[in-house]
Amino acid sequence: MELARTEERIRGVCEDWREDGLQIGFVPTMGALHSGHTSLVDISLERADRTVVSIFVNPTQFGEKEDLDAYPRDPESDANALREMGVDAVFLPSEEEMYPPGYSTYVEVEGVSDGLCGSFRPGHFRGVATVCTVLFRILRPHLAVFGRKDAQQLAVIRRLVRDLRLDVEVVAGPIVREPDGLALSSRNSYLSRLEREQATALYRGLLRAEGLAGEGRTDPAALRSAVRAEIESQPLLSAQYVELVDPSTMRPLERLDRRGLLAVAVFAGRTRLIDNILIDPPENREEGAG
Ligand code: PAF
Repeated sequence: MELARTEERIRGVCEDWREDGLQIGFVPTMGALHSGHTSLVDISLERADRTVVSIFVNPTQFGEKEDLDAYPRDPESDANALREMGVDAVFLPSEEEMYPPGYSTYVEVEGVSDGLCGSFRPGHFRGVATVCTVLFRILRPHLAVFGRKDAQQLAVIRRLVRDLRLDVEVVAGPIVREPDGLALSSRNSYLSRLEREQATALYRGLLRAEGLAGEGRTDPAALRSAVRAEIESQPLLSAQYVELVDPSTMRPLERLDRRGLLAVAVFAGRTRLIDNILIDPPENREEGAG
């Protein structure tokens, strides 16, 4: 496996593969890898001839009061795990490599970045869109895999790729959960034992809402309340938002009359967790239900 720390090196590796007619798959990460990430890597290994994983804790997507310094980092064990999986190259750039002195260009994806996490983390998606654009330019992958857990990020990247006519296929990977339903996240490592126990309420709430939709409820308020009730039953959790939106535009739905994304952000103590579920309207619901 190639472990490249410079843009020049990884660019050369990818260019050689392209010249040989090989399809390049790319999985961008911030490291602290867990099974959620490795499931994305598996998709790339399956779909592409060569797989590159980047490990870069991107400072431009963290707000001033966020956990940039505390963010878990273990690049060596990440690289070892990726080597064992059969990944072909890891790109592990420094901050200066990604943002050389004088760097001053940022990518803003309007609309889709605004609600949900965008309302509470100003500048976050600008940082994500910027770093992904730079990574796409350096690696020129044929496909890039993003997890559905970060549903708004996925929508932002899809819009970015469409609007800037970037020549990369965006592939979505499923949310990977612990047996008790908690979605895997590098930030789960911050949770105390009690917070960890109570955090299972996110997924329980989402499933409760899905159950209501299955019974014919289509009003977003009822679905949102079901999630909030589960969260509020846990003293260490406080909901930041619960929203039912269109999965591509991130605009709120007035009714569940097409596929909706029910998304939630919660603080468990000081740790911010997100989760979501895609809900389809029940096909045979009674007239006027909901
Ligand atoms: O999802 C992440 O880990 C990050 O937002 C990403 C896509 C690697 C960009 O820094």
